[in-house]
Order: sequence, then structure tokens, then C-alpha cells
Amino acid sequence: MAQKTTGKEESRAADTKQMDNIVSLCKRRGFIFPSSEIYGGLASAWDYGPLGVELKNRIEAFWWKEMTRLRDDIVGIDAAIMMHPRVWEASGHVENFTDPLVDCKECKQRFRADQMPEENQKSGRCPNCGGELTAPRQFNLMFKTHLGPVEDDASQVYLRPETAQGIYVNFKNVVQTSRVKIPFGIAQVGKAFRNEIVTKNFIFRTCEFEQMEMQFFVHPSEDVKWFEYWKEQRMAYYAKLGIRPDRLRFKQHGPDELAHYAKDAFDIEFEFPFGWRELEGIHNRTNYDLSRHSEFSGKDLTYLDEVSRERYLPYIIETSAGLTRSVLMVLSDAYDEETVEAEGDVRTVLHLHPALAPVTVGVFPLVKKDGLAELAQEIERGLRDDFTTFYDQGGAIGRRYRRQDEIGTPYCITIDYQTKEDNTVTLRFRDSMEQVRIGVPELISRIRQEIRDYKRV
Ligand code: GAP
Repeated sequence: MAQKTTGKEESRAADTKQMDNIVSLCKRRGFIFPSSEIYGGLASAWDYGPLGVELKNRIEAFWWKEMTRLRDDIVGIDAAIMMHPRVWEASGHVENFTDPLVDCKECKQRFRADQMPEENQKSGRCPNCGGELTAPRQFNLMFKTHLGPVEDDASQVYLRPETAQGIYVNFKNVVQTSRVKIPFGIAQVGKAFRNEIVTKNFIFRTCEFEQMEMQFFVHPSEDVKWFEYWKEQRMAYYAKLGIRPDRLRFKQHGPDELAHYAKDAFDIEFEFPFGWRELEGIHNRTNYDLSRHSEFSGKDLTYLDEVSRERYLPYIIETSAGLTRSVLMVLSDAYDEETVEAEGDVRTVLHLHPALAPVTVGVFPLVKKDGLAELAQEIERGLRDDFTTFYDQGGAIGRRYRRQDEIGTPYCITIDYQTKEDNTVTLRFRDSMEQVRIGVPELISRIRQEIRDYKRV
């Protein structure tokens, strides 16, 4: 007899299926591939394909614009991935950036002691083979390598586990060379590396990933005010990015969850298909980092307020978002399978914000003959300067629309016989599937306006 499933089990199965469908869409359409796939792949490493790199770049550009261009109190930098090894002693990462791990004496598998099922934690037996586990040992998450020709302790460096430290060590440089005055911020986007033991859920947690971090330097008496300000700003940013608000929430870190540098911390969590997970951290790091770098480097990192003549070590409010994790968030939020009643079938569609879509405008001739293909190509070339376009003349027009829906192209233009007569085309909208007739000269301004006014329904 068939087992009855509960509502909860059904929805869990649906979420797993949705995740599988997203992974398969990413592979099929060239968003994300397993790394080194022809050699069987490399655990937890992923490559961004032609559409994936466009999506990732657009998320980064959106963040950069919001955090730097649209403000007058934040500047950017791009620091090196490998830094002086003393940086990581000063930051506390050498000492504290560890996970408690246990090894199975039989099958040699390694587990996070704090993330194992409770019964295994109690019995001390392996969840994989039932073998005996070692006592937990602290395992540092930083990757080590050697700089230069000699592999000795003196040449050992780390791959940065967060981009933030590159900002702290450049604090003085930025203050001295830019016109910044506290309160001000420094933003950076770049790769970070952590030797994570538990890597699962596609690109959610990987050993190599990208962060978008901003460190905001404030007077110590104003830390709480700016912490609240940045919590609000960062949540508003996700709404602007087109993410549905009911999929986002704050979660405050309890005293035992706080990182070694933090006085207060909130995560912004997103409801991924596999549950609520951290997307971004907002931290009050106090003057921990600057005081430690000052102590370890012997350099004065205080700030002089030229008006009050007060000299002090600023506090830092940090906003730290995952870029690669944001790609998964955007895809999860955008992915949908919709029944199209008029056509009696189901379409896969990505409801991406038009500013993020890898292709903004698809251009199709209704048929290839009678000069329509040439005309469509001419129109498509005329749009390239303003939008990312894709020309497609193959197959039935309905199929071409569906292929663009699946990659999230918000607008499609079809050139038909009427175009030859009155220079008008059909503009079709991805979300509503509505079509309007519009003159070719109005296309650019109309699409620009549609992107500006976009609201997800
Ligand atoms: N500078 C502070 C910092 O690094 P974090 O909470 O460890 O804080 C910030 O990381 C963000 O970086 C996370 O919210 C997440 O989006 C992203 N992140 C961290 N580890 C990651 C990993 N292994 N894979 C993908 N993204 C990761």
C-alpha cells in the first residue's frame, strides 16, 4: 500500500525538486557548470558560463552602484588576495577562525562536530559507517600556500578568508589620499577562500567564493545609530533588487554565535529552496580590527577630526554579502514553472529584475525569408549600444519566446511583414506575456523606461 505523505514532506520534496530543477537549468542553459567537469568535477567548485557570468557581473554592478556611485560617503578599493601573514594574526583568524572537526577512525571521513546528528555526537560513532570517532579538534579554515621560490615557514601566506582585512590595512592610505571624512565607508568586491568541510547546496557554500563587503567608519559614540541605519539600508537594497520581501528576514546572533570581533551582529536571511539561510552579515566590529592592526604593525591608525581636533580609533560597521550566494538567491527567487492556460502547457521562467537579466532584449524575425531576417538583424544591432541583445531566427516563434523566458530575458521584439510597411514591431513582456505594437524609433526609450519602472507582480 502506498505510504501517505504529510503536507510537510510533500513541500520538502517539492523544494528539493525545485533545487534540482534550478541546478539543471543552470547547466542546460550555460549559467553554471561543475568545475573541471571533463575530469569528473572538483567537489564544491563551480564555473560560471556565458549567462552565469553576465548575471554575476550584473549583481556586482548593482551592488557597486548602490554602495558607491549613488552615495557621496563611500569609496571603493581592490586589495590583493594574498596579504602579509601578520594580517591574519592581527585579525584573530590564525587563532580563532576554526571549526571543531572529528575524524572517523574506520572510514576516515571528517565531520563538523557541531553539525553532526545529535545521536552521533552522543555515541561518538560515525554517521557514515558506525565507526569510532576521534575527539573534536580545532581545524583552521584558511588555505595556506607559499610565496616565492622557497617553501619554508617564512614564505607561508594565506588566501584571504574575507575581503574585509584588505580594507582595514588600507584605512590610512584612503584617509590620506581621498577627501573622505568620518563617517565614511570603503567598499570592495572580490574572492575569498575557506576550507569548508561541509559544502553542499550547489553554490551556496563553497571553498572559493566572492564577497561584496563595505566597512563604514564611525565615531565610537555613534556605532548603534549607524548599525541600525545599515540594517535598514541593506534590507531596502534587496527590495530594490526585486527580491520578494516575504523571503527575507533578520536574525540576530546570540552571544555564543558572535564572531570574535563582533559586539552585535544581524544576518539577513533568505528563504532558499532548502530553508532559511544567511545571505549577508551586518556586524558592529567596534575598533577591534584597527586596534589590532595598530598593535601588530606598530603604526598609528587613529583618525584626527579636523574640526573638533579629537583623535580616536573609529568603530566599524560592516555589511558583508556573498556575491556567489546572491546569484543562488536571485535564481531561487526568480525561478518559476507556470501553467499557461491559453496554450495548455507549463513554461519555465526566470522573473529576474531586468537590470540583472543576462540578456535584456531578444530579437526575432517572424520568418527568415523576404528580407525579415536582415531587417531584424539591423534592428538588433541598433540596440546593442544600450542593451545586451540576443538574435534568434530558428524555430517556431513560441519556442523562441520560451527559450528566452527560461533565461529571464524580460523583453522580446518580433519583426514581421508589417514592420516593412510601417516600421513597427511587436514588443513582448516576459512576466505578463503581453504584446504591444511599437515604432522602432521608440524602442530604446520604452525599454529603458520599462527597466526603470519594473515591479514584479
Ligand atoms: N567579513 C565578515 C565575513 O566574512 P561572514 O558571515 O563569514 O562574514 C559574509 O561572511 C558572507 O559571505 C556570508 O553572509 C555569505 O553570504 C558569504 N559566505 C561566507 N562563507 C561562504 C562560503 N563558504 N561560500 C559562499 N559564500 C560564503
